[in-house]
Amino acid sequence: MKDFKNLEKIYEFDVYPKRDMVLVRGKNAKVWDSNGKEYIDCVAGHGVANIGHCNDRVIEAIEKQARQLISCTGTFYNDTRALLLEKLIGIAPKNLKRAFLCNSGAESIEAAIKFARFTTRRKEFVCGMRGFHGRTMGALSATFTPEYRKDFEPIVAGFHYVPFNNFGKLAENVNDNTAGVILEPVQGEGGVNIGNREYFTEVRRLCEERKVLLILDEVQTGFCRTGKMFACNHFDLEPDIMCVAKGIAGGLPMGAVLCSDKVQAPVGKHGSTFGGNPLSCAAAIAAIDYMLENRLEEQASEKGDYFVGKLKSSLPANVREIRHLGLMVGIELKEKSTPHILKLIEKGVLTLPAGPTVLRFLPPLTISHEELDFVAEKTAQVLTANN
Ligand SMILES: Cc1ncc(COP(=O)(O)O)c(C=O)c1O
Repeated sequence: MKDFKNLEKIYEFDVYPKRDMVLVRGKNAKVWDSNGKEYIDCVAGHGVANIGHCNDRVIEAIEKQARQLISCTGTFYNDTRALLLEKLIGIAPKNLKRAFLCNSGAESIEAAIKFARFTTRRKEFVCGMRGFHGRTMGALSATFTPEYRKDFEPIVAGFHYVPFNNFGKLAENVNDNTAGVILEPVQGEGGVNIGNREYFTEVRRLCEERKVLLILDEVQTGFCRTGKMFACNHFDLEPDIMCVAKGIAGGLPMGAVLCSDKVQAPVGKHGSTFGGNPLSCAAAIAAIDYMLENRLEEQASEKGDYFVGKLKSSLPANVREIRHLGLMVGIELKEKSTPHILKLIEKGVLTLPAGPTVLRFLPPLTISHEELDFVAEKTAQVLTANN
């Protein structure tokens, strides 16, 4: 067998701090490494595998579409794309009427920034401190973490960061040159920080008043992750622009920007070669159908409460707080999370950080209760062992 780790070490451009394993296979909430070791996967491709790894419905849809048509640029109409667009708008907040299809979360944010500047003819954006929106230049400019930005300056001008869940500070930073407010309903990378209803209600009102577009980044929170199809449904919130990606297409790359009638389309001034390709669209139709038919929102909500209940039943002293909405779960520690993440790998559980001190769980929403018991038990063991 080839040494895959070494091949990546030699040939891959080195941007990822790697975990010491080669993942070769996945099914539902489990993945296996090249030595055959099994893991419960609470990383799920960074919150992508909401309907589980290698979901049968998605496999069938991809196989069928691959024989029919794989690529089709947006300058031609396409049957599968049309059906996906109808489905996507059908599950979105009802003021969102049309979608631009792209290939990732960052691309969806890039497009949202352009659409907002185009529509309002204004230049500036107000974003959340500890917010994360991606690594391309526009998305990076909306991202708070200074370490991600500082080596790549000058970033796009006109982005301001304000404390999350603090309406007063946000209002102070909105002016006549503000095109949009960009927020995550629950900050993922920033630590699983949950937005509150009053905050979003006030932000919605202010955006209306000042003719500023409210852009919600549902890249991580979308597609049932938080116990609703989109996290904004928890707050009865209708954004003007909603960015989605990750779980949309059952693991295939896809992003989308959903827009209300307030948003003007810059015809001929934006696009993407792969955006809306029939293969990803077919996968997305299958993924969304699976979510609806299996009531994945309810599963995420119930399993999130169940899992957090288990975690709370044996809370070690190094835990500061547990925050969760559905199956987006963060354990805030009084210490760094990385050593615990590495110990959990040894015990067969994959988790991820959210900032330096938060241990984050984004399992497939199809994970079983027994698997959640296993994860909770191993987590308690690992956190306790370090006390
Ligand atoms: C909230 C949020 N927005 C945007 C992105 C960027 O998405 P992508 O990595 O697909 O570009 C991420 C990725 O983690 C995210 O969590």
